[in-house]
Amino acid sequence: MGNNLLKGKRGIISGALDEQSIAWKVAERCVEEGAIITLTNAPVAMRFGKIKDLSEKLNAEIIPADATSIEDLENLVNKSVELTGGKLDFVLHSIGMSVNVRKGRDYTNLKYDWMQKTFDVSAISFHKMMQTLYQKDAMNDWGSILGLTYMAAQRTFPDYSEMAESKSLLESFARSFGYHFGEKNKVRVNTISQSPTMTTAGSGVKGFQDFFDYADKMSPLGNASADACADYCVFMFSDLSRMITMQNLFHDGGFSNMGMNPAVLGL
Ligand SMILES: NC(=O)c1ccc[n+]([C@@H]2O[C@H](COP(=O)([O-])OP(=O)(O)OC[C@H]3O[C@@H](n4cnc5c(N)ncnc54)[C@H](O)[C@@H]3O)[C@@H](O)[C@H]2O)c1
Repeated sequence: MGNNLLKGKRGIISGALDEQSIAWKVAERCVEEGAIITLTNAPVAMRFGKIKDLSEKLNAEIIPADATSIEDLENLVNKSVELTGGKLDFVLHSIGMSVNVRKGRDYTNLKYDWMQKTFDVSAISFHKMMQTLYQKDAMNDWGSILGLTYMAAQRTFPDYSEMAESKSLLESFARSFGYHFGEKNKVRVNTISQSPTMTTAGSGVKGFQDFFDYADKMSPLGNASADACADYCVFMFSDLSRMITMQNLFHDGGFSNMGMNPAVLGL
């Protein structure tokens, strides 16, 4: 049951592929809190994902867009403004994919054209999305834009490979664009650094289950679930967080500030 935290607000949610997707939970929570949203994902995700089920459930239109294509993003923003009935109050970037990880290449043997594709999909798309919104003046004053990230941007997690650099870039775009959007019309831009979560993107990382269990033990609160992340996103889209911008916000049950937890050693 919602509390109308997003009543009357309009937004775009990217990246809902199936029920496991973090974006899926965020979309459900936003609508529960009274928001009107559009959904978007890569055209290819329309074929093998379940986004149509979500669209029907939430009565939210799907606007397919490859997040690396400016043309697709322009269409996404234009249609979202039209379908939701006005300028937007919030946008979620929940997109990530590493070509080298997918193809099983070691970090010491990466293919650079694949790396560029990875950066384009996982990080530069965030800038492209924001630049499209900015140039079209499509965000309402005091709106909120969020990207999802992981702590491998700050510390080394070897199996995360080139996604670590993607996330560093994503977080940097949030800070830099946060300045420009804040000065323009008080729009805030942040990234949420989420615990390991069992999703299609997450489980693509080698040894993910072991790592998930390790992080769960290491964190005094345990891993943050996708549902908990959706709650946090609702808060960040709501007026309750209006002075928070240009931040990377850890949502990880305490993992990022732990050195060692005796539970990990079985003590
Ligand atoms: N799962 C985790 O452990 C975890 C932890 C921290 C951060 N994240 C981040 O959360 C975000 C969402 O991932 P998820 O875990 O929910 O997995 P997911 O696989 O459900 O979502 C990733 C989405 O990216 C979309 N996508 C890929 N290429 C695209 C393109 N060119 N254009 C548009 N969309 C495209 C996919 O279709 C998919 O819907 C990602 O940025 C991911 O890196 C995930």
